[in-house]
Amino acid sequence: MAGMTSTARPFLNRRLAGFGTTIFAEMSALALSTGSINLGQGFPDTDGPQEVRDAAVRALREGRGNQYPPGPGIPELRTAVAAHQQRRYGLSYDPDTEVLVTAGATEAIAAALLALVEPGDEVIALEPYYDSYAACIAMAGGARVPVTLRPHVEGGASFRLDLDELRAAVTDRTRLLLINTPHNPTGTVLTRAELAVIAELAVERDLLVVTDEVYEHLVFDDAEHVPLATFPGMRERTVSISSAGKTYSFTGWKVGWVTSSPGLVTAVRSAKQFLTYVASGPFQYAVAEALRLPDAYFTAFRDDLRAKRDLLSAGLTDAGFTVFRPTGTYFVTTDIRPLGESDGLAFCRTLPERAGVVAIPNAVFYDHKEAGAPYVRFAFCKRVEVLADAAERLRKTFAH
Ligand SMILES: Cc1ncc(COP(=O)(O)O)c(C=O)c1O
Repeated sequence: MAGMTSTARPFLNRRLAGFGTTIFAEMSALALSTGSINLGQGFPDTDGPQEVRDAAVRALREGRGNQYPPGPGIPELRTAVAAHQQRRYGLSYDPDTEVLVTAGATEAIAAALLALVEPGDEVIALEPYYDSYAACIAMAGGARVPVTLRPHVEGGASFRLDLDELRAAVTDRTRLLLINTPHNPTGTVLTRAELAVIAELAVERDLLVVTDEVYEHLVFDDAEHVPLATFPGMRERTVSISSAGKTYSFTGWKVGWVTSSPGLVTAVRSAKQFLTYVASGPFQYAVAEALRLPDAYFTAFRDDLRAKRDLLSAGLTDAGFTVFRPTGTYFVTTDIRPLGESDGLAFCRTLPERAGVVAIPNAVFYDHKEAGAPYVRFAFCKRVEVLADAAERLRKTFAH
């Protein structure tokens, strides 16, 4: 009778049934109990810039943000977000009516979906998808329609969006497209040409778009991050979401933001005010300073992550995995079939014992479990010595 009352009705409501404990909790517990290197969850093992930490301490000491900050976020941060969008992408937003500060991107995603989706509305999401999308669509009463990114091996292995599949997924009930680029967990960065087609489709079918761009600064090689809001007809229908967690390596601070047109920001704020109302007061001041760091910060951060990607990817390749080379995010997806394995979930459950490394099975990010079964994700936002150790353990276990 665990989780049931005497009337036999489950405690967890029907909308959330099936969203039990996340895989991250299971795998992090395994990492601890086996003393493994945890390349599962996506958080860095070194903190962000000292001057940004100092800014948070200063705000705390000077009593800035220790009480409820304004509902939409402190003006300094909204102004800094608007300036960042202008400087990086030429997108101009009014800090007072077109920017909203949230408790991380996670709350922005929840508030956007709760605000914009009616029960029965269809929401198209790229599969594999970040796990909170499915739960938030469910909480809003929407119907999830996954469009699967397909593996391609020619010209270097990568996952690509089939634009015809996306077009075919749109129905009269489609309310919004939920896009994520750079994409977790595949590391795919949608190209300008792909985004142009998505934008045309959204305009043609009069769809709203929620775009999760938390990895906007984590792009490598010749990939470029292009915000969907920059395409014709998109600014007024797109809710763009980002956060400080990934860009500045402060995932615990939970400072995120939304940029959009006034009507959409007002709608998202209506839902957001009843979730947290406000959060992260002193950290908002610090992130306002972080957003003003010179471009050299972003370049150095990217170069460091690219080197880490290459280090871990080389180890995984030597161990025998097929590596889907990510051009964005700090995750690398692999195919375990060359190792003679086919079930990523079973593989990840035994990997700590076998190799002393923890990874995440991509199947948990799929509705079509079979499509994701052989893929496993490793995070490379860890110190070089940690990645080198993990690579060596995997080599020893699997390379012959
Ligand atoms: C695609 C994606 N969106 C959102 C988030 C969460 O962002 P935040 O920590 O700002 O809530 C993550 C974190 O892993 C993510 O991978």
